[in-house]
Amino acid sequence: MAQWAAGLRAADSTLALVPTMGFFHEGHLALMRRGRELADKVVVSLFVNPIQFGPGEDLDRYPRDFERDRRLAESVGVSALFSPEPVAMYPPGFQTSVAVSGLGAGLCGASRPGHFNGVTTVVAKLFNIVRPDWAIFGEKDFQQLAVIRRMVLDLDWPVKIVGHPIVREADGLAMSSRNVYLRPDEREAALGLRRAILKARELLAAGWTDAAALGAELERFLLSLHGAQIDYVRLVDALTLQEQTKIDGRTRLMLAVRIGGRVRLIDNGALTSSSTEAAWLPS
Ligand code: PAF
Repeated sequence: MAQWAAGLRAADSTLALVPTMGFFHEGHLALMRRGRELADKVVVSLFVNPIQFGPGEDLDRYPRDFERDRRLAESVGVSALFSPEPVAMYPPGFQTSVAVSGLGAGLCGASRPGHFNGVTTVVAKLFNIVRPDWAIFGEKDFQQLAVIRRMVLDLDWPVKIVGHPIVREADGLAMSSRNVYLRPDEREAALGLRRAILKARELLAAGWTDAAALGAELERFLLSLHGAQIDYVRLVDALTLQEQTKIDGRTRLMLAVRIGGRVRLIDNGALTSSSTEAAWLPS
């Protein structure tokens, strides 16, 4: 992979990397299409990264279908699908970890200890192997995107990080490879995440600006859904991910809910239309 990418760079081609764990859906394909708009060649990595899963999480049952993924990637013009074996990424003796301490600590980092160190370590390796000009990540994993932007700024990586808006099913459910775990009767509860975001926007439009009151109202709504357990409901500053007391133009609603005790879903949304993307660009 490294040699192939170096050959392209030597021939003055630009490269976009889309890091994935496979089992592609429209959300992944949208990231790949964005890569094609930005760069001459798109590399997609497909690697179910063992070190970002905690004990008892779904590493062993994570959905996989390499042939289908290969066809889909090809159909949107991806030049290379990089799918290393775990032992190639983590050979015996591997002992290094990349950690973004602040942004990775709360939210999913608190519920899934070690998760973001696993993500940043593998993404750091992928950046070094491919050395892309752009790397594209979905905003569904909003905290992951913030952690990766921070890592790239802090470690002076010459790669531009591009966030892509969440791609949703027709009924509003954010696309995720993990949606296959949902039983038909659990769909209604799963849709509650999107509804909570819309409800938050309605309440804001009706004059609610106190984050604690708004958060409590959203928790009440989510708990009313059959089979839903709340992991977190937080109103945070989209850049720092710190909890806010008053809603403002930078507020992001962050949600993690467990459905039927088994399926952990995340979703998020801005409460106003302003974007924080530009604020991440180095001045
Ligand atoms: O978002 C994902 O699928 C993964 O966390 C990533 C970025 C591919 C790292 O394994």
